[in-house]
Amino acid sequence: MTSHERTGARPGTHHAPATVAVAAGRPPRQPDGPLNPPIVMASTYHAGGEVGYGRYGNPTWEMLESAVGSLEGGVATSFASGLAAVAATVDLVPVGGTVVAAPDSYYGSLALVRRLEERGRLRVRQVDLTDADAAAEALPGADLCWAESPTNPLLRLVDLDRLAARSRAAGVLLAVDNTFATPILQRPLESGADVVVHSATKYLSGHSDLLLGVAVARDPGIADRLVEVRSGQGSVPGTFEAWLALRGLRTLHLRVERAQANAAELALRLRSHPGVSQVHFPGLGAMLSIELHGDVAAADAVTAGTRLWVHATSLGGVESSLERRRKWPGESTDVPETLLRLSVGVEGVAPVD
Ligand SMILES: Cc1ncc(COP(=O)(O)O)c(C=O)c1O
Repeated sequence: MTSHERTGARPGTHHAPATVAVAAGRPPRQPDGPLNPPIVMASTYHAGGEVGYGRYGNPTWEMLESAVGSLEGGVATSFASGLAAVAATVDLVPVGGTVVAAPDSYYGSLALVRRLEERGRLRVRQVDLTDADAAAEALPGADLCWAESPTNPLLRLVDLDRLAARSRAAGVLLAVDNTFATPILQRPLESGADVVVHSATKYLSGHSDLLLGVAVARDPGIADRLVEVRSGQGSVPGTFEAWLALRGLRTLHLRVERAQANAAELALRLRSHPGVSQVHFPGLGAMLSIELHGDVAAADAVTAGTRLWVHATSLGGVESSLERRRKWPGESTDVPETLLRLSVGVEGVAPVD
């Protein structure tokens, strides 16, 4: 199936994102037809069709792709993980080309482009994309700009409209990792970005039970190239994972709304907490970072001592979780040692004592 046909599965763009999350990616309405897509477990198909083999396509992936594509306003391709979606998008860069990326990008994405640079595949220009002038200076001559907003883990915001306009003027493809904000709160393609990438492992699926990635392209030709990379490299999603992700997506708007409200309340309370020296919360999404007074051992004691909060990496699940980011060797040294990143879940908020 070409990406042009894939776009045809999208419901009208006039629906609210919440409605799209519920209604998109459903089988055709017919008597006794199921409401939900079947989980099609097939490594191969009867000959004579367009797909032919399980690495080239799967009806369950298509349902998820239709839903995420409708939410973001483009043509979606699903992958085995968020990082596989990142790698496929970076693969759009010609050999010897240049990627502009912020030093506080997700460290897995940054590690990927740095590794490719070491091997001579491409060059990396690191620049703080929250600084619009610095970004504009770095763009000319580049091929791809890699942006995240809010940034990880300092949760600073990038002006995506402005960055998109400047990327376009410089002839640079703009890719935005929208994992933290989700299409409920931010739709970068509407701002003028070319590709949106998700670790669907996080909010889109929402239950910390699978790994999956999605890349959504504005231009169907780019979507076709992403499919080519997926087929060629075999970075295909598991069928059951795609089905579970779509099931989780049905409540994305409710989870994001509740988690963001919880995060706002928590940010308010933590600002006056004696153990907290700084709260980073931009009011967009449900991620929150705090810097603690005291040393690393004290910060580690906080993460080890929680009873309800889960001490674990990752984010975007229904459960609240936290971790000290600098415990990871790859984390930027610009991130304070005692910074804890909190992924706020959808639990109830206890009244103030
Ligand atoms: C912002 C962001 N992008 C991409 C990824 C990579 O996604 P995955 O772990 O699904 O490969 C992550 C994972 O933590 C992430 O936080």
